[in-house]
Amino acid sequence: MILWNDALIKREDAVVDIEDRGYQFGDGVYEVVRFYDRKWFEMDAHLERLEQSAQKIGIDLPYSLEQLKEYINALLAESDVGTGNVYIQVTRGVAPRNHPFPDLVSPTIVAYLIPYDRPLGNMQQGVKATLMEDVRWLRCDIKYINLLGSVLAKEEAKRKGCVEAILYRDFGVTEGSSTNIFAVKNKTLYTHPANNFILNGITRLVVIDLAKKLGYDVRERVMSNEDLLNAEEIFMTSTTAEITPIIKVDDHVVSGGKPGAVTKHLQEAFDALI
Ligand code: PDD
Repeated sequence: MILWNDALIKREDAVVDIEDRGYQFGDGVYEVVRFYDRKWFEMDAHLERLEQSAQKIGIDLPYSLEQLKEYINALLAESDVGTGNVYIQVTRGVAPRNHPFPDLVSPTIVAYLIPYDRPLGNMQQGVKATLMEDVRWLRCDIKYINLLGSVLAKEEAKRKGCVEAILYRDFGVTEGSSTNIFAVKNKTLYTHPANNFILNGITRLVVIDLAKKLGYDVRERVMSNEDLLNAEEIFMTSTTAEITPIIKVDDHVVSGGKPGAVTKHLQEAFDALI
């Protein structure tokens, strides 16, 4: 079953209108929320970010977040998936194709569950990444559905045998194509500040909080590519990747080609949370 506006319907019965603005313009926002053993992880924070993303592009959610959470709980209740993600998407809705916002339109909401195990292999062994220019737009703080910039970056990374593309602009490293990037040096964590150049990841916020509680310094500031490569450890965070060590960036080996001690410490603390 999937959530289609306020109803649970069979996936086969869902039909996307060819004039849905999400389909035609990428005019919509989304969230991916994790559940472990049928328990949501940081659901409220994700729903709040969904509402903020929607507000930033002038979409009013038709339901309160409480109501939306009830619908999503109903989706989980009728499924038997143990661990996975829920994908939630809100588009501006269906209207004759024309760029400005239509006068009369109501959002289309879709949510469905995706079984997804924890990426334990990547988390234990670490992954390779490649540096690539960030050619996305300048409102990366909005979790919007037009992911072409990230799709093209991830595809190029995959072709190079890497799991993630670490993106940089002329001033330095921003984030991964679908993750936030952290570097560790002298027991201090560095990550790009939460502004329009990155998505302020929910996992990023959880990790910053954990790190501070564990006594690490956290500095939210821009790193040059060189700063990144000079780090003792690098890791990426996201809802699906959790805390994944990066052990090689292009030809540059990080932390001796294995996950570093601080990364592992944070992973343990994260494990205890979920
Ligand atoms: N991606 N940065 C970007 C560009 C992202 O797309 C994501 C998440 C993150 C991490 O955010 P969070 O910790 O809230 O998941 C950072 C999701 C998982 C996706 O598109 O699949």
